[in-house]
Amino acid sequence: MRQSIGALFSLSRDRWRMSPTRFCDRQRSARIAAVWWSWGTSRVAGTACGVLRERWGQTMVPQPAPTAGDTAWFVHDRFGLFIHWGLYALPARHEWVKQRERIRDEEYQPYFDHFEPDLYDPVAWARATKAAGMRYVVLTTKHHEGFCLWDSALTDYKAPNTPIGKDLLRPFVEAFRAEGLRVGFYHSLIDWHHPAFPVDGVHSQRDDEAFKAAHAGRDIARYREYLHGQVRELLTDYGPIDIIWFDFSYPDRTWGGKGRDDWGSEALLKLVRELQPGIIVNDRLDLPGSADILTPEQYQPRGWMERDGQPVVWEACQTLNGSWGYDRDNLDWKTPDLLVRLLIDSVAKGGNLLLNVGPNGRGEFEPRAAATLAAIGAWTRLHGRAIYGCTASDFTPPPDCRFTQHGNRLYLHLFAWPFRHVHLDGFAGRVAYAQLLSDASEIKLRENDPHQQAQNTAMREVAGTLTLELPIVRPDVLVPVIEIFLKD
Ligand code: GLC
Repeated sequence: MRQSIGALFSLSRDRWRMSPTRFCDRQRSARIAAVWWSWGTSRVAGTACGVLRERWGQTMVPQPAPTAGDTAWFVHDRFGLFIHWGLYALPARHEWVKQRERIRDEEYQPYFDHFEPDLYDPVAWARATKAAGMRYVVLTTKHHEGFCLWDSALTDYKAPNTPIGKDLLRPFVEAFRAEGLRVGFYHSLIDWHHPAFPVDGVHSQRDDEAFKAAHAGRDIARYREYLHGQVRELLTDYGPIDIIWFDFSYPDRTWGGKGRDDWGSEALLKLVRELQPGIIVNDRLDLPGSADILTPEQYQPRGWMERDGQPVVWEACQTLNGSWGYDRDNLDWKTPDLLVRLLIDSVAKGGNLLLNVGPNGRGEFEPRAAATLAAIGAWTRLHGRAIYGCTASDFTPPPDCRFTQHGNRLYLHLFAWPFRHVHLDGFAGRVAYAQLLSDASEIKLRENDPHQQAQNTAMREVAGTLTLELPIVRPDVLVPVIEIFLKD
């Protein structure tokens, strides 16, 4: 149905957003709106999109259908911190080091024996997170190496048994909650340490023939029990948890690939929802249709993400330097301005950004990471209004720009600073006021005279265009933003 109507009016995904000029074309708008409505009847109007539709009569901003988890806070808060922290902070060369370098358990043991993050101060982490403008955090309770940060009753391979000698998770949860931040747990489905986890093509000892032969009888059912038991602990003993971020399934990728039957994903999901109703569950359990959020990793989607033709809630996850775990010699650092652009780009496409830090073996955010977070915080302090509560806009931004929108406030993010003018086609008569967001200084608006031809000091003008007059000097912020108040 949707496809046939779509074909009839040759509606492409790009046309989810109508340009302001098309607003005037009522007939066409009505046709597009009809297609849009037929495109998902379960979709409910609400939040900014609902307001917009009321105000403008129609909007093409996608509206994901509700899922079991509570994503209302999530799509408002937009920006979170990912933390990858485990034994791999000691070798300091990527969290997959055990796998990449085919390290055997006994060779990995020194990292366990020397894990002593004596400077670990979760209160300082929480404050740095909040100061960066992040509103939630997701911490690796266990990564693929199998090491647990909490005092699990189901294993000895845990922080309390290392020289640091204590549960690292409880003070973490308390510190972040105390700062008013939402808390999520990343939990690895994969485990390269557990004695019942079958040696497969992704395993750290995948090429060790003697080891494989000696461990050929491993029974994943035993591991599954452990996995479910640990998830039960995590979602029972640490109060309300906002997100569970499972990682990851690879049913077809390699020999011994693993997916829903191996993890017991259906039962696991049921357990999660029973223990923490409302918790957000990500999309890596190999259970199509079950996820609350999609999690594109280390790339920016081209537009609002969809599954089976339906728009979904999504969150890009990005690193500071290409590695999730602390990686001492990695030089691939993204600049703070690039990272801010990734945040803006995500919100402009209706998504969130989960930005990662890999603390070091002393338990600190290394200076480069701390400085980057602080620089991002200097931007979010002034520009939070253009991020929190915002989503994609119906309007098409000029080149090198992004739009985010919250009700009648439209935010123009200028990735490049043009000389004197930004031209907004189709905006004539639609804007009540505009200002630079960083200092609330007025941005003058000029409605063009369409009869003006280009000559010596006058530029050619275009009917329906609104021109914003910018200062010559670019404001000294990572990305300048103009706050545009649309007329009712
Ligand atoms: C991956 C990797 C990993 C990282 C994660 C973050 O799938 O295995 O090391 O934790 O994604 O998205």
